[in-house]
Amino acid sequence: MNPALAKDLLTEIGILAKNGKIKNDKIRKYNQIDYFVELMQGVLKEIGDRDEYVILDAACGKSYLSFVLNFYLREILKKKCRFIGVDYSKTVIDASKRIAANLGYNNMEFIKADLTEYTPDVRPDIVISLHACDTATDMALGLGIRSKSRAIVCVPCCHKDILKQYSYEPFEPIMKYGILKARLADTLTDGIRAAYLESVGYRVSMIEYISPLETPKNIMIRAVYTGRESTKARADYENLKEMLHVEPAIERFLRQKIGFKITRQGDNGHEI
Ligand SMILES: C[S@@+](CC[C@H](N)C(=O)[O-])C[C@H]1O[C@@H](n2cnc3c(N)ncnc32)[C@H](O)[C@@H]1O
Repeated sequence: MNPALAKDLLTEIGILAKNGKIKNDKIRKYNQIDYFVELMQGVLKEIGDRDEYVILDAACGKSYLSFVLNFYLREILKKKCRFIGVDYSKTVIDASKRIAANLGYNNMEFIKADLTEYTPDVRPDIVISLHACDTATDMALGLGIRSKSRAIVCVPCCHKDILKQYSYEPFEPIMKYGILKARLADTLTDGIRAAYLESVGYRVSMIEYISPLETPKNIMIRAVYTGRESTKARADYENLKEMLHVEPAIERFLRQKIGFKITRQGDNGHEI
């Protein structure tokens, strides 16, 4: 999106300087958000036209992504939308509320809550999450699954949880190098997340959404709810757990939540 189109917004959220140029320390952030928003077009198509889009930004931080996406939906696509930003930091929630009030965006609300505790009052159309640290991405995915979001779009941040747990003997000659073990853990973490999402009825795609020169945290997980749970994906997921000796965070968080069983009934009535 041409920043000049959203001058007031980008100035208010601190991306544009007074001279109308993107601040040097915000260029990367803006590029990341811009690509994220561009890639949302495909997801919007997949979930189909809706009277109002409900978007839940999990671990929203200062909500740059939500503000730009809100602008895109409201001002460019002329769609009705409601945004819910959730973060456990009071500072960022207060800042986001202030910005929304200054911009007159009364379709945006911001809630101070832990992602593992929060349940929305409405089924979201899309749960989005950008760079939620380590297992906060699993919490965001879990929140999307629990609330039966029509789509979930996550760009994970660091991957420490599986790294701390996994072992795989045939790969010991490779994993003895810490850096290789860590890089492998990144891939394994996102692969395990994908298998889990597929098992509970999401169609998943993974893309490198932005150049690694912008940020190395550049894998986008896109999941669209189909309601068709996959027994094959469930078996793959269980095999991965066993083979790698891990208990993935996504399952841990969902199990913690009262009333959610890993073998749940999907929209089509099948148990997995
Ligand atoms: C690196 S920041 C990313 C913020 C924003 N999405 C962005 O891209 O600018 C990660 C955010 O996750 C939030 N967070 C981490 N764990 C959380 C949890 N369990 N519940 C809610 N928020 C969490 C932090 O407070 C922080 O604002």
